[in-house]
Amino acid sequence: MTDNAQTVAQRRLSKEQVEAFYHNEFVADQVADFSELMPYSRPGAVVADVGGGCGFFARALSDARGDRTRVIDMDPGSVEACRVLGVEAVIGDALAPQFQGDEQVACFNLILHHLVGADEIKTRALQVKALVAWRAQADTVFVNEYIYESFVGTVSGRIIYEITVNPVLSSIGRQAARLVPALKANTFGVGVRFRSHREWLKLFEEAGWRATAVRIGKPEPIARPLRGMLIKAIRRDSFRLEPLTNVL
Ligand SMILES: C[S@@+](CC[C@H](N)C(=O)[O-])C[C@H]1O[C@@H](n2cnc3c(N)ncnc32)[C@H](O)[C@@H]1O
Repeated sequence: MTDNAQTVAQRRLSKEQVEAFYHNEFVADQVADFSELMPYSRPGAVVADVGGGCGFFARALSDARGDRTRVIDMDPGSVEACRVLGVEAVIGDALAPQFQGDEQVACFNLILHHLVGADEIKTRALQVKALVAWRAQADTVFVNEYIYESFVGTVSGRIIYEITVNPVLSSIGRQAARLVPALKANTFGVGVRFRSHREWLKLFEEAGWRATAVRIGKPEPIARPLRGMLIKAIRRDSFRLEPLTNVL
């Protein structure tokens, strides 16, 4: 990891922006993917759900398979919602997680694309840093992430990042979204960094993890106005990651 990665600040969503994620829309897919990719868990070991939000995934996973779970999230409202659901949860930072020593698996469900910095290099460093942190503790990592495939190279995820991170372009985007709701982005002014399937694989390897199993998600509808960003496919894929040295 570079010195840069240690000092880079995450551009964080506001409380209201985070509240837009207080829903359980993706939980059934995430639990199905997790169960297929991670069929065994060590008795008593904890599945740490990093950026686990209101605990919907952690609750469903415990109910379906009996796994011990613990949410780590920076949003106090989410952590409180976890406790209401009977899910163990702590306020914590994905970029500097505090281990309790019993975590075997770390989950990153739809959080990596929110670890954004002021430019592409800093953003990549933050995403890598969050994954590197778990090399010291977890045997396995589960990632569920948005995949944006492009008609030209991997430009779509980058275009969306450049628009959402830039105040002027975000302001234009907000105005355009009044007329064309498909252009609406909850992350305007902060930034979001989606990647292609291959880009995520490369990033995992940079962080010392290799995908040993994957589940490809169903293609999601692409609204016509988004085609201007050269988007070929949008999916949510899942990855089982193991330490690079173990699988060489
Ligand atoms: C898009 S929501 C995903 C929630 C849930 N995992 C899901 O799949 O529906 C992103 C979550 O990541 C959390 N988050 C973002 N940056 C974080 C950080 N640095 N440390 C801990 N949590 C973070 C947010 O508070 C939010 O709950």
